[in-house]
Amino acid sequence: MSTSTVGWQVLLFFSLLSLGSVLGQVSYSIPEEMKKGSLIGNIAQDLGLSVERLKSGKARIYTGNTEEYIELKRDRGVLLIKDRIDREALCGQTMPCALHFQMILENPIEIYTVTVEITDINDNPPTFERGEMKFEISESALTGARFVLEKAIDNDVGINGLSSYALKPSDNFALKTISRGDGTKHVEMVLQEPLDRENLEHLSLILTALDGGEPQLSGTMQILITVLDANDNPPVCSKPEYKVSVTENAAVGAVITTVRATDKDKGNNGKVTYTISKSGAAAIFTIDPNSGQLTLSGNLDYEKRRLYELDVQVSDQGGLSDGCKVIVDVTDENDNPPSINVMTNSNTVSENIKLGTVVSMLNVQDPDLNENGRVNCLMTENIPFAIKKPTNFFSIVTDSDLDRERASEYNITVTCSDEGVPSLSSSVTLTLQISDVNDNAPVFERSSYEAYIVENNTPGLSIFTVKARDADWNQNARVSYILEDSSVNGVPVSSYVSVSADSGVIHAVRSFDYEQIKDFHFRVKAQDGGSPPLSSNVTVKIVIQDQNDNPPQVLYPVQTGGSLVAEMVPRAADVGYLVTKVVAVDVDSGQNAWLSYKLQKATDRALFEVGLQNGEIRTIRQVSDKDAVKQRLTVIVEDNGQPSRSATVIVNVAVADSFPEVLSEFTDFTHDKEYNDNLTFYLVLALAVVSFLFITCLVVIISVKIYRWRQSRILYHSSLPVIPYYPPRYSDTLGTGTLPHVYNYEVCRTTDSRKSDYKFGRAGSQNVLIMDPSSTGTMQRIQSEKSILDEPDSPLEVSSTEI
Ligand SMILES: *[C@@H]1O[C@H](CO)[C@@H](O)[C@H](O)[C@H]1NC(C)=O
Ligand SMILES: *[C@@H]1O[C@H](CO)[C@@H](O)[C@H](O)[C@H]1NC(C)=O
Repeated sequence: MSTSTVGWQVLLFFSLLSLGSVLGQVSYSIPEEMKKGSLIGNIAQDLGLSVERLKSGKARIYTGNTEEYIELKRDRGVLLIKDRIDREALCGQTMPCALHFQMILENPIEIYTVTVEITDINDNPPTFERGEMKFEISESALTGARFVLEKAIDNDVGINGLSSYALKPSDNFALKTISRGDGTKHVEMVLQEPLDRENLEHLSLILTALDGGEPQLSGTMQILITVLDANDNPPVCSKPEYKVSVTENAAVGAVITTVRATDKDKGNNGKVTYTISKSGAAAIFTIDPNSGQLTLSGNLDYEKRRLYELDVQVSDQGGLSDGCKVIVDVTDENDNPPSINVMTNSNTVSENIKLGTVVSMLNVQDPDLNENGRVNCLMTENIPFAIKKPTNFFSIVTDSDLDRERASEYNITVTCSDEGVPSLSSSVTLTLQISDVNDNAPVFERSSYEAYIVENNTPGLSIFTVKARDADWNQNARVSYILEDSSVNGVPVSSYVSVSADSGVIHAVRSFDYEQIKDFHFRVKAQDGGSPPLSSNVTVKIVIQDQNDNPPQVLYPVQTGGSLVAEMVPRAADVGYLVTKVVAVDVDSGQNAWLSYKLQKATDRALFEVGLQNGEIRTIRQVSDKDAVKQRLTVIVEDNGQPSRSATVIVNVAVADSFPEVLSEFTDFTHDKEYNDNLTFYLVLALAVVSFLFITCLVVIISVKIYRWRQSRILYHSSLPVIPYYPPRYSDTLGTGTLPHVYNYEVCRTTDSRKSDYKFGRAGSQNVLIMDPSSTGTMQRIQSEKSILDEPDSPLEVSSTEI
């Protein structure tokens, strides 16, 4: 206020000076922004007017059209602030700023000019239109680069107006103010220190504008600077060399390692791209260009390559780059089974091969490392071979004897496995054929053979078959049968039997007669076709079986058509008196020679009986005087053959105490004398004829015998008995009338050889009985029955034949 008061006084002085030209004028100087009602000046006093004059003159202010900021208080004679005065609004930057108006009085009219100068006060701070400014400045901007800043505006004038700027912090930039020709001031920011985005990306500066008023006012603006990146940093690998181990069986796509490189730059300048230099390894490894992840894109094989060195190039978009190395060490896995190569192999070996002979050589390899590549081989067990490794190769040798007949083929499986974990193995199977050697002789199915054939067979009949087997093969096993030379009763066996060489069938060459030969044996040899051939032989026994082809032969009593033989039975004979015994033989054997005796007819059936088994004729009751002297019994002798054969014999029995009695009685038997004469004649005739026939037969028989003997020596070594027949004179030397033994009996032989009858008894012709009642003489015991009666013993077994 004191300043403005001084101002006013100065103005007042100048106003008084100018009163003379105009009615008078007055000037005041006041600061802007005074309060309403504030006193501007005492105009009455300053113009030398009284308050009454103002009143009477109805003093008033005339401003024209302009706004009235000032009012006149007539009763006090002073000017007061009517409205707030803002110099900046009133005048802007124009200086000086004054309000001009007139004060008009009437009675008389007087006009006074009043000038009120408005002086500036520092009521406006410098201001920036915007609160902030943003800059994007590349970090590569050079020092001295200028950036125009917005200028601040201060509505005040003069010293209150804008006077200076300040920038904080001022590390990188300095301020430069440029006064233009029109007096305006521009402000610029000049780069003094280079920016580094990597260090500080965002800068915030405060630009302060200051005026010169007192107190000083200021305005601020924020300057935001974003430092733009420049590719000023190369990418850098985190390690110059990466070492990794990868197993060879790592799958395609497996991550091996990740190469890392950093670039301090930003955006594309900091974007690192990874590449691996094109080489052979590029097909196996792939690097992700963005992440640097190294993956497997192919298959590793330790056995092919164990080390890879990859050059990895890292580069940013700006063309800066670095390089590093990845060393991939491939480690072994047991991924290769042993491989077995058969170098040589015999497909066939002979069964008599020597021990230790190499039959096959194998080369076994495993390319894996250490134990993964160490190989052991095993072979099928329990075969006569062994596997050996004398050198780098495995060999299969025989280690025990081979026998084609036991095993003709071997499948030799060799399994080789390495020592890796898990172990890998492979195997190979070799087939070995064992070839035959003629080392087995034919073997007959049985150690000896016995065969049965019924006599009277047709020649050429096959009797049975021998069979031999040979364990060898093919020709070595082709068996042929050979009849070995031998003789049966002096005759070559080949005239009895023949053997079919191929089939082993034994045929009868002739018809056999049991009564001549009962059995014989020979050897058959079986020989194989090997070279040299092997053979074995077997004994074959042929047993000839009996047929009931011979009827029984009655040896006693001897009967002829005309002869009479009578057994004497004394009238005193008791019951069971042995009258006689019918003796018969059968050259057959067994059942066929099992004889039974039956009484077929009898004069008095109540008197005699015949022993079924022994042929003994006994009385069965006491003989009485009434019994006839002549008794005639017919006994039938039957064998037990099927069908049975039989013979009958007539036994005359005389029941008498004396021989004359018998004779007288027996004249009946001898009929009359004429008959007797005739009989004698016929007998003599018959005897002559018979003697002739006998001698002839004898000659023929002897000739035939000699002939046959020459032919077959012992063929007719017959067991058939030669039974002599004699005239029916006999005496019971024991006197008891009983025969001592069933198989012992006496045969009478006359000393009169002229009248002796010899009959060679052959089967079928045995029933010729000759009786000569006249012949008497000494009797000679001949024990020839033994040979006859032996016969039934052996053929009894025949019934259990098994042909
Ligand atoms: C050997 O192997 C073959 C083929 O697998 C087979 O036919 C034959 O029977 C085998 N031999 C032996 C003795 O096992
Ligand atoms: C028949 O075989 C036996 C052994 O079984 C032998 O001793 C004999 O010599 C053989 N005979 C012939 C003629 O081969």
